[in-house]
Amino acid sequence: MLSNVVASQIDIHKKTGGVVPEVASRAHVEQILPVIEEALKKANVSLGKIDYIAVTHAPGLIGSLLVGVNTAKTLSAVLDKPLLPINHLEGHIYANFINQNQDLAGLQRIKPDSNPENPNKILINHGSEFKFPAIVLLVSGGHTSLILMRDHGKYKTLGETLDDAAGEAFDKVARVLELPYPGGPNISRMAEEYRRKFPISNFQFPIKSQIQNPKMGDGNFFPRSMLDSGNFNFSFSGLKTAVLYKWQEETVGATLRGRPHSGGHIGPPLQSGQNNNLREMFCYEFEEAVVDILATKTLSAAKRYRAKTVSICGGVAANKRLREEISLRIQKELPNTLYLIPNTKFCGDNAAMVATCASYQVNKKTKKQKNKKSNLDFEVMSNKEL
Ligand code: KG4
Ligand code: ZN
Repeated sequence: MLSNVVASQIDIHKKTGGVVPEVASRAHVEQILPVIEEALKKANVSLGKIDYIAVTHAPGLIGSLLVGVNTAKTLSAVLDKPLLPINHLEGHIYANFINQNQDLAGLQRIKPDSNPENPNKILINHGSEFKFPAIVLLVSGGHTSLILMRDHGKYKTLGETLDDAAGEAFDKVARVLELPYPGGPNISRMAEEYRRKFPISNFQFPIKSQIQNPKMGDGNFFPRSMLDSGNFNFSFSGLKTAVLYKWQEETVGATLRGRPHSGGHIGPPLQSGQNNNLREMFCYEFEEAVVDILATKTLSAAKRYRAKTVSICGGVAANKRLREEISLRIQKELPNTLYLIPNTKFCGDNAAMVATCASYQVNKKTKKQKNKKSNLDFEVMSNKEL
């Protein structure tokens, strides 16, 4: 990897509390050429020296995909370079194969069973050790899927969300709790603050509400949907609604309970700043609920399919508690399974994962296939299976 330039639109989307598709695609138009130029400059490579061009073509927001695909097609035609359309979900999976020997962000790489005394160390993947079959949990703003990966390019989706994606739930709950976009990192920060104030030395299994709070009793503060469903599907909209109702109950009184809402409805305005401790507690409980659901289903898929590797990817895979919880459970329940996860900087959308995916596809091609002219007649798609 010679360079990996990411143009973030977070500041733009913060103003509207989420992604407005039209705004996002306009920002793509403005950013795409400067980003390509910067990437080449940082890599110290000229366009003529590039062997292949890879581009995300599906699934995603059509307007944004179109900008990338049309730019890539134009470059491919003008420079006479082969072009590879890449599935965005497959790109996320290949964040696991980026050569990332440098910059482990202070995390150490250990064998799952090498240091049981210190289970909080998290494994960072170096690609080559990835053993199949693997169970991959893909968690992003648009997707929540459990994938059985039998080899490079061979996927079976075991289950997915029936409503909101995990990242979407983080973003919507953040709006309910009046936290800025994107919800994931902000909720996580507030939850961390709660843990700091009420330290729990050892997390127990299964996760229950560990905070001493008479209102909560022993059970879970928020529901864990579909844990007993017997399949690998997810549902997060019930959890989101539970957060909304409990928050209204705690902050604006019971009169607002039962108020109709839909999708990303923000609920009534609350007096900001007043409810910070409560907000931190809600963030903590919400994050624990999501992590519990994701970790439980991932572990049961790994057991069912006798996975040699468990991995996570997508924007939500940057979540510290999720990374840690799956690590803890694997060491306890599946000590011979490898747990390999991407560096956090490759969890959210980035170009390195797309290029890595393309490089694996190129390596599989025969010489004849490599010399064949690229077909530029492919479309962008808002939905596409792996
Ligand atoms: O993969 P991604 O960058 O874009 C999509 O393909 O959707 O994922 C973005 C999502 C957002 O919903 C964001 O809130 C979530 O990832 N996210 C997190 C964290 N960082 C980003 N969710 C939980 N914890 C985080 N630390
Ligand atoms: Zn993504």
